[in-house]
Amino acid sequence: MTRGMLDLIGNTPLVQVTCFDTAGSELWVKLESQNPGGSIKDRIGLSMISAAEADGRLQPGGRLIEATAGNTGLGLALVAALRGYKLTLVIPDKMSQEKVTHLKALGAEVIWTRSDVGKGHPAYYQDMAQRIARESGALYVNQFENPANPLAHETTTGPEIWAQTGGQLDAIVCGVGSGGTLTGLSRYFARVAPEVEIVLADPRGSVLAGYVATGTVGIAGSWLVEGIGEDFVPPICDLSRVTSAYVVDDAEAFATVRTLLARAGILAGSSSGTLIAAAVRYCRDHADRPRKVVSIVADSGAKYLSKAYRDEWLADQGLLQRPGFGDLRDVVTRRAVDAQLVAVAPDDALRVAYARMRLHDVSQLPVMDRGALTGIVDESDLLVAALAGERAFDRPVRDVMTRKVETLAPEAPLTDLVRVLGEGKVGVVVEKGVLFGLVTRIDLVNYLRRRAAAV
Ligand SMILES: Cc1ncc(COP(=O)(O)O)c(C=O)c1O
Repeated sequence: MTRGMLDLIGNTPLVQVTCFDTAGSELWVKLESQNPGGSIKDRIGLSMISAAEADGRLQPGGRLIEATAGNTGLGLALVAALRGYKLTLVIPDKMSQEKVTHLKALGAEVIWTRSDVGKGHPAYYQDMAQRIARESGALYVNQFENPANPLAHETTTGPEIWAQTGGQLDAIVCGVGSGGTLTGLSRYFARVAPEVEIVLADPRGSVLAGYVATGTVGIAGSWLVEGIGEDFVPPICDLSRVTSAYVVDDAEAFATVRTLLARAGILAGSSSGTLIAAAVRYCRDHADRPRKVVSIVADSGAKYLSKAYRDEWLADQGLLQRPGFGDLRDVVTRRAVDAQLVAVAPDDALRVAYARMRLHDVSQLPVMDRGALTGIVDESDLLVAALAGERAFDRPVRDVMTRKVETLAPEAPLTDLVRVLGEGKVGVVVEKGVLFGLVTRIDLVNYLRRRAAAV
């Protein structure tokens, strides 16, 4: 029995993972996804609010403000809701609606800001939160500078890991968002077991692994795993006890979380892929003396189902390992041959076409008649039909489909495809009489971006 959800924060399970080749080492993961708000950030939501209450910065019914749409927002929103505080979150406009819906449903007020500006710009989410706090008297929580952030891990996460491993531990593999987890664990283990190695797992593109290796902050790139990696070293982040750092690229991270689910049944967020891939490499690098290693599942994969766990999204990002052809076939995201192409039949009702477009988040569908492409139905066709009559959605697709398609051979030059798309048509790649797949504008943009990233 428990008196409320806040009592369920922490004391998360530690589970052994045996589905990777760890060269004889034991790999364990701490399931922070089991916290009531779904992530490791519940711990700091509780500790940062409790610290502000204790030193009088936060009065009953007071307002907090933070710049985040991520797990920290959820952790704060959970604690604020249960302790009667108001919470404002400043959120860059690239964040997913799902996360924002969750935050609003917990009672947080959301202020959108631009995601295309950097530190120092008044619209940058952190600068904006700071200014609103100054002007309104709300308490700016600022996880990047708040000492109660690492303190939560020093006083709870660290002791839990030490007790759960029975005091037998060689290394912890950890990522850095604000640096709270790594710093808190570093401080705790420096006191109780300084021989425990602190290993950094960093997404390729983040500057932190480079900083550990050289002491200088390089130029940041971009990465897709969420919650870890930075383009600066956060003020509370103390990397001085990091003994080694591993850089993990997105493809390896996503493949790793997928394996973790399929083989160990653990539904983990994308950052766990980076951490566990690094932990596995660390184990293999120490095959001479098998170790006991702990890593972290910081949040649940439930909120990444439409990304990390969806082949089409990975293919759009160029992260699905499949051989290239060196021709137009490489531009096709959803291949007919792999049954990835979503289609309708000419006799399907428009209702079916509408439902499929929404379900698969596409704006047009090929109309296939016994394996042969007979047309295309797109959003504008649906709109014209819907405006024209009440029973429009019962009408068959064949009534409204268009033939705005042009067939291209795989070896056709890219300029042919550009012309077809420029004419508002959909390109259809047909190989020896067999449909290979459709190419829309966004497929071409994704392809060009992948190509640019590869050089
Ligand atoms: C999703 C996610 N968020 C946050 C963190 C850690 O964040 P911080 O450095 O802010 O403690 C991790 C670390 O593993 C993570 O995976």
